[in-house]
Amino acid sequence: MKKSLAIIKLGGSAVTDKTKFKTVRRNVIKGIAPILKRYHDKIGKMIIVHGGGSFGHPIAKKYNIDKGLTESNKIGLSETVDAMRELSLEISTIFRNFGLPIFPVQPSSFFITKNGEIINDSNLIVIREALKHNLIPMLWGDAVFDISIGCSILSGDKIILHLAKKLRPNVVVFGSDVEGIFINKNGIRQLVRKITNKNFNEILKSISLSSQIIDVTGGIISKIMIMREIAKLGIKTCLVSLFDPENLYKALVGEDFVGTLFDRLK
Ligand SMILES: Nc1ncnc2c1ncn2[C@@H]1O[C@H](COP(=O)(O)OP(=O)(O)OP(=O)(O)O)[C@@H](O)[C@H]1O
Ligand SMILES: [Mg+2]
Repeated sequence: MKKSLAIIKLGGSAVTDKTKFKTVRRNVIKGIAPILKRYHDKIGKMIIVHGGGSFGHPIAKKYNIDKGLTESNKIGLSETVDAMRELSLEISTIFRNFGLPIFPVQPSSFFITKNGEIINDSNLIVIREALKHNLIPMLWGDAVFDISIGCSILSGDKIILHLAKKLRPNVVVFGSDVEGIFINKNGIRQLVRKITNKNFNEILKSISLSSQIIDVTGGIISKIMIMREIAKLGIKTCLVSLFDPENLYKALVGEDFVGTLFDRLK
């Protein structure tokens, strides 16, 4: 019986081209498929969560789905949910062709939020059942019903935090289009190899204040906050580039890897 469980985030920044509407990076997905297969065959069970990239984000933004449900954005809500299903189908088809038994689970069909935060004691019975049978549940960032504003965007990163709390995986790896978390030290862009309780605030400040790193979006800051929450649960949490599949494998199995490791922050 395989005991270890990994949760892997396929960042929309890596599996899609965020600059081109609905553009899948099939070569990136094909590149990591054999790595996931090797892990699943030899090491342990896994859950995959992918982001919205150039599928979910632009449509959700166009219709203000994150601001709530109105009389005029119901078609937009429908379109956002379907755009994510489109991306999911692309990903699951490629993975299945490599022999990975993906079991897609649509987050909007069972997660409910209140002001953007998951509220229900969400029933993870389907995910648990899939894992029991050694299938690979795959979820994604989605537009969901929200009891205070009608609807909201539930990011893949937030879903991972929720799953981590409930399922206590051994490792969580966030895959991105960059090698890890970067800070700006004396004008030089530098990869942070390890985040600890001690250097956390300094790193956060350096990213927020950075003028060299142009894309200082809420994206990366909220990702770091979520990663810290997971690390605080005592779970090994890493950020790596999905453009280097062997390196992803190293992060998954606990070998030295290039990227950012959030030490268990307990
Ligand atoms: N200091 C930083 N260190 C690392 N990445 C950064 C930094 N500042 C900005 N970024 C950007 O943050 C992005 C990751 O966050 P983003 O939410 O855009 O991607 P994602 O989570 O992979 O996509 P999705 O939300 O669609 O899943 C990377 O593409 C990276 O370029
Ligand atoms: Mg993101």
